[in-house]
Amino acid sequence: MTNTEIIDRIRQLKKEKNAVILAHYYTRPEVQDIADYLGDSLGLSQEAGKTDARIIVFCGVHFMAETAAIISPDKKILIPASGAGCSLAESITGYELREWKKANPDGIIVSYVNTTAEVKAWTDICCTSANALKVVQSIPPDHKILFVPDKNLGAWIRKVTGREMELWHGDCCVHERITTDMILEKSRDYPQADILIHPESHCSHDEAILNLPQAYMYSTAGMIRHASRSDKKQFIIATEIETIHKLKNDNPDKEFIPVHPKTICGQMKKVTLESVLEALEKEQYVVEVAEDIRQRAWAPIEKMLQIK
Ligand code: 13P
Ligand code: SF4
Repeated sequence: MTNTEIIDRIRQLKKEKNAVILAHYYTRPEVQDIADYLGDSLGLSQEAGKTDARIIVFCGVHFMAETAAIISPDKKILIPASGAGCSLAESITGYELREWKKANPDGIIVSYVNTTAEVKAWTDICCTSANALKVVQSIPPDHKILFVPDKNLGAWIRKVTGREMELWHGDCCVHERITTDMILEKSRDYPQADILIHPESHCSHDEAILNLPQAYMYSTAGMIRHASRSDKKQFIIATEIETIHKLKNDNPDKEFIPVHPKTICGQMKKVTLESVLEALEKEQYVVEVAEDIRQRAWAPIEKMLQIK
């Protein structure tokens, strides 16, 4: 089958089955192009709660589809790439949070949304990179905080808010490779460019980066908004490389320079056009969360979604 035939068939099946396709900005360009909604982790969670489709085909990694299943229990959630995982989600378990709670009964656990349903079930409030600062600022100062699992995002929040937090030791294997030296080298090559950095990056909490006047820390959707609104013509992009597909589509007259050609999330690339078609044809792979865990995991997500 050619790509055009696959896309036609996907469109037809979507209509017949009342399905919607949600995709993260890190998926392959051809997958982004067939999505009904393209977004970052926060946008995708919000969209999963709004859609009235019967089926959600979630083009992303497992924790994202699981989050959709927690938010929309009445929908059938399909993940085209069944084995698409995430180094952050795999770095912590519910057991470890339970143990921390036992030792810190008044402590508050803030979990990045890049976690399993089981971890969310032991969480007080979730956050994404788009709302992490507001979430932490909403917690009364007399509570001890454990922030899991991303040590870089956590260290950046700690720096910006001045709030003491215990951090977990997880990292995103893609953003962990983005160093201060990489950013400084690229900014020497492109001195006029704004530098848009994801807070999961290794360098996100380094003074040398925080003091750069042309550097901005953003979730993926934040970068896309910044590039569209800015008068600048060049942008250094310090996040997963496929974000540049959307940036270029929205701003054909602007230049986007990847901070490094290897900032690639192989897990997100497991979703292909063929696997999306197969997912729709066979209604596979269904992502489900046991109802008792789902109810517990929904509470911290709901709290997060209420933060404006
Ligand atoms: P955002 O979608 O919040 O930008 O997070 C990036 C990411 O790594 C998702 O897996
Ligand atoms: Fe996980 Fe990093 Fe890939 Fe996002 S980019 S899914 S955080 S490994």
